[in-house]
Amino acid sequence: MPYQFASRTAGLRSSAIRDLLKVTEMADMLSLAGGLPTPDSFPLPDLRREADRLLGEYGPRVVQYSATDGVVELRQWIADTSTTQLGRPVAVEGQIIVTHGSQQALDLLAKVLVDPGDVVVSESPAYLGAVQSLELFQPRFEVIPGDEHGMQVEVLAERLAAGLRPKLIYVVPNFHNPSGATMSLERRQQLAALADQYELLVVEDDPYGAIRFAGEALPPVASFSERVVHLSTFSKIVAPGFRVGWMIGPPEVMSWVARAKQAADLHTSTFAQLLLANVMAQPGWLDEQKARIVPMYRERCHALADALEASLGDRIRFHRPDGGMFLWSEFPQIADTTALLKAAVEEGVAFVPGNAFTIDQQPDNKARFSYSTLAPTQLGVAVERLTRAVDRLG
Ligand SMILES: Cc1ncc(COP(=O)(O)O)c(C=O)c1O
Repeated sequence: MPYQFASRTAGLRSSAIRDLLKVTEMADMLSLAGGLPTPDSFPLPDLRREADRLLGEYGPRVVQYSATDGVVELRQWIADTSTTQLGRPVAVEGQIIVTHGSQQALDLLAKVLVDPGDVVVSESPAYLGAVQSLELFQPRFEVIPGDEHGMQVEVLAERLAAGLRPKLIYVVPNFHNPSGATMSLERRQQLAALADQYELLVVEDDPYGAIRFAGEALPPVASFSERVVHLSTFSKIVAPGFRVGWMIGPPEVMSWVARAKQAADLHTSTFAQLLLANVMAQPGWLDEQKARIVPMYRERCHALADALEASLGDRIRFHRPDGGMFLWSEFPQIADTTALLKAAVEEGVAFVPGNAFTIDQQPDNKARFSYSTLAPTQLGVAVERLTRAVDRLG
């Protein structure tokens, strides 16, 4: 008798990227496929010192169960930082939930908001992890096109005017994964205004905002409307293995999310939260960490972009991102980048074909290159290999 699974698993895709990581473990493979932060960015000496101090000075509390919405020291830091970032008061109680990475925030929001058939607005390409979280609850995706200035909010406005009523609108406004795009100020303001006008909920996912290496920081969508759940994480700026992120949102939404989190895991790791809270409490620590790591990503992004331009010329098109970890590109002479990936892997370089990030998964001529984990010289070699693969496809 075959195993019987819930009908909600029917459309659930496996992450093409995780499947690909198997290939990238092959000897001598240069991977532009993953999205891992560079290990050089992890502040290991500071983490080690605080871990020792925590276990010594705090005693058993650091390994005890703790509150579902997060330990108060961390929530206090989040409240202070977000009050400045959002330009409106964010309370320690009721508006903040510390999550097991932003990925859990996406899962919990999907759980408490989405019924089968509900409309969910997303860009395409979209962050695959968000699509996976949402897909389990069987929504109908309404795709709004994006460009180098983020989701085309003017198209969303037209569809709302025509009667579209989404349960949630998912956006990644800073250095989007995979497109690298940053949403313009006007579109952020327009999106917030639409949320207020139509009484909608926006989920603003911002894991990369602190990794800005060009241009001026823009205010979050959540600074223009309270109908926004704002997601952040320590994954890219400290280290992802702690699995600590957080969400800030309207108390009514957060109270349902807190109940869903109780059901999911009771709370996020007490030890990881206290460790991060203590590190953040050191004056100037985060600014110094950013000053140390942002130039690493800038240098790598430029190394990759320069090499692609020099080596492939008009056989590739892309916009240079202002931050983050991803360069999104188009190959005007190639119909399907899955075929290019096959040739590239034979040459010893991996990337993710564009259709892995689309809702319909139709073959396309796009590709995501991550420059985060390779040194500039390795990025040069990776582009030589990629160029040989492009040559082979004619
Ligand atoms: C857009 C986006 N959202 C969320 C996440 C998940 O991050 P976390 O490690 O905080 O769960 C990622 C990770 O790559 C991401 O790219």
